Amino acid sequence: MDHLTPRQIVAELDKYVIGQRDAKRAVAIALRNRWRRQKLPSELRDEVAPKNIIMIGPTGVGKTEIARRLARLADAPFLKVEASKYTEVGYVGRDVESMIRDLTDLAVNLVKGERARGVEDRAAELAEERLLDLLLPAARPVPPGFEPATLPPVQETREKFRKMLREGVLEDRVVELELRDKAFPMMEIFPGAGMGQMDINLQEMLGNLLPGRVKRRRVKVREARRLLHQEEAGKLIDMDEVVAEAVRRVENAGIVFLDEIDKIAGRERTLGPDVSREGVQRDLLPIVEGSTVPTKYGMVRTDHILFIAAGAFHAAKPSDLIPELQGRFPLRVELQPLTRGDFVRILTEPESALTKQYTALLQTEGVTLDFTKDALEEIATIATGVNEATENIGARRLYTIMERLLDEVSFEAPHLPGVRVEINAAYVRDRLQELVRNEDLSRYIL
Ligand SMILES: Nc1ncnc2c1ncn2[C@@H]1O[C@H](COP(=O)(O)OP(=O)(O)OP(=O)(O)O)[C@@H](O)[C@H]1O
Ligand SMILES: [Mg+2]
Repeated sequence: MDHLTPRQIVAELDKYVIGQRDAKRAVAIALRNRWRRQKLPSELRDEVAPKNIIMIGPTGVGKTEIARRLARLADAPFLKVEASKYTEVGYVGRDVESMIRDLTDLAVNLVKGERARGVEDRAAELAEERLLDLLLPAARPVPPGFEPATLPPVQETREKFRKMLREGVLEDRVVELELRDKAFPMMEIFPGAGMGQMDINLQEMLGNLLPGRVKRRRVKVREARRLLHQEEAGKLIDMDEVVAEAVRRVENAGIVFLDEIDKIAGRERTLGPDVSREGVQRDLLPIVEGSTVPTKYGMVRTDHILFIAAGAFHAAKPSDLIPELQGRFPLRVELQPLTRGDFVRILTEPESALTKQYTALLQTEGVTLDFTKDALEEIATIATGVNEATENIGARRLYTIMERLLDEVSFEAPHLPGVRVEINAAYVRDRLQELVRNEDLSRYIL
């Protein structure tokens, strides 16, 4: 899907995120530029560096949401990390480079999944043959005194079983199968060890030294089919090719979304056990600019990985980032605070809008929810009001309000099958007015 035009990308994002045109355009252009770069002659291709983006905007206005949706669209290796996690105590030793390792792992799984789909049919055939081997006792020599002709030919029996298998009549039959157990229990061997750098080669090495143990398991046919299919697919896939392709994709199309970048802004060194924020910024520099990171799949170059950072920048400003890092994020886009009108749209328009979610959830109990237009207006008004009076948490306010609004119906739904509940403005006011009027109360509840 990486051939989507910027317009198409924005149109796709529009299905999930209301407003925020600038941010959508910026990420759409960045994505398209990846594709354009691939078309260039190689000398030029190496020169074109991605234009990394910082999205700036208050909390709850869609920064992370845009990234999440973009990830699905991009069909590229996409990793979302919180920049702040690298300052936490537990992550000392789990260095910033680990984001590239994680991205590569992800890409390998992505490509492996694609290849597995490619060999699906063949793997299914092989799995069926192995199932038949398990179901049919090996042809024994004919005991003396018996005429061979009285036994049905092996092939005929096999076909009979195949037919039964396909018809699904043998699903609950138990078979015993041998599976190669490749997953190596690292965790048990190095409990609590810093899993950052050190696991890279050890795991590979030990994995190769100790040949996969063979495990015998008794399972039902339906489970056996799944396991055998997996194993056969694994044998059909050329892992060297998968790894090469995965690394190629990471290097050329990989996207890292660095959320909460404002949490590492600031130049002062923190006291105590936390890694200094400036330290994390310095560690990020080479990765963002382009360096080579060792991973268990080999060296990965980061020059053309696209970085999209996001942060609310309440306390800190982008200019509080160290200058070198600022320079590596040339594009700044601001996200706008959400208006009352946006709230109405957010409640109804996105594919997974809240009203759709609640309606579907309650429908499972046979309760039909009906939101009137004036109810939506009322909810949006209340959300705006509470955001102004207390903390502005953007669209997240709608979550707390809807939960409170539908508390009664959600609780009683199992006892109201077949009932249609109209949620109109009066209903909304009735359920929420008291809370809204009392600011202290809304501080706690909404
Ligand atoms: N513009 C929008 N359109 C549709 N839904 C939105 C929009 N903005 C926010 N939301 C909804 O609100 C929730 C929070 O949004 P999101 O996670 O994108 O916030 P954020 O901007 O990343 O905030 P923070 O700075 O706190 O991380 C999401 O579940 C999202 O669905
Ligand atoms: Mg966020």
